[in-house]
Amino acid sequence: MSNKLKKSMILGVTGCIGAYKAADLCSKLTQYGYDVHVVMTANALKLVGELTFQTLSRNRVVSSLWNTTEWEPQHIALADKCRLLLIVPCTANMIAKLTWGIADDALSTLALAHTGTTMIAPAMNPRMWQHPAVQENISVLKRRNVQIIEPGTGTVACGDYGTGRLEEATVILNKVNDFMKNN
Ligand SMILES: Cc1cc2nc3c(=O)[nH]c(=O)nc-3n(C[C@H](O)[C@H](O)[C@H](O)COP(=O)(O)O)c2cc1C
Repeated sequence: MSNKLKKSMILGVTGCIGAYKAADLCSKLTQYGYDVHVVMTANALKLVGELTFQTLSRNRVVSSLWNTTEWEPQHIALADKCRLLLIVPCTANMIAKLTWGIADDALSTLALAHTGTTMIAPAMNPRMWQHPAVQENISVLKRRNVQIIEPGTGTVACGDYGTGRLEEATVILNKVNDFMKNN
């Protein structure tokens, strides 16, 4: 795919232990030919480095609303440029922010400015995933046509067994490809 035809997307990364898996997804998306713009939360940065995503995406990573060097804030510029906002992995916290329209960091603010499709892959401890607050928020997001890449069942990082595992990168890549074919 030539650079001109590259389809752009935002890859939001939040503070889940599975954030390192988003680096593999970022690499796959870039190799597939997508123009990937990574936006990370401050908590994601505690788990995986900005330079990893900058190198894999070949684009500057946005992790703050306040360090913009452009005249146009990056959260608005990216929202204008990309039809897909993909958040992998998505914390319980970010699910709540998306539900309630909270805009207190670059990713959640961008999500409010974004008028295209939002796809999220939640990942968390099974007790967190089962919590009524999370489940009710997910229901609201589904009603708003946010595409939920449901977490899988198995043993999670803390050793608990249940539903909450981040879906595999190859499955997420297939969903992105399906979306891009039709949009
Ligand atoms: C080591 C570690 C792993 C975490 N993993 C998860 C996780 O998988 N899912 C989740 O929802 N929260 C997880 N958290 C809690 C979030 O990081 C916390 O709720 C944070 O406020 C999320 O911020 P963010 O949504 O801005 O990234 C984890 C915290 C720590 C310290």
